[in-house]
Amino acid sequence: MTELEGTATGRYIVVKALEDGVVIMGLTRGKDTRSHHSERLDAGEVLVAQFTELTAAIKIRGRAEILTDTGKLVSGL
Ligand code: TRP
Repeated sequence: MTELEGTATGRYIVVKALEDGVVIMGLTRGKDTRSHHSERLDAGEVLVAQFTELTAAIKIRGRAEILTDTGKLVSGL
């Protein structure tokens, strides 16, 4: 068993950038919340990701279409 096995929850989220420069930040799980990774997407690029033991939440800056198991929405103004 590798150190990464068992860390992902199985649920995927999909983020599609609707403009250049959309930023997706991964926020740590636990008592402190810090941004541990950021990923920049240009228009049309898609990120498919899972929550893990390290990542409890994500923050998205910019206009993007977001699909999760709770629904679909568009971020940004
Ligand atoms: N460190 C927080 C936690 O594990 C991360 C978090 C989860 C969070 N959900 C959030 C941060 C909602 C802001 C908003 O609980």
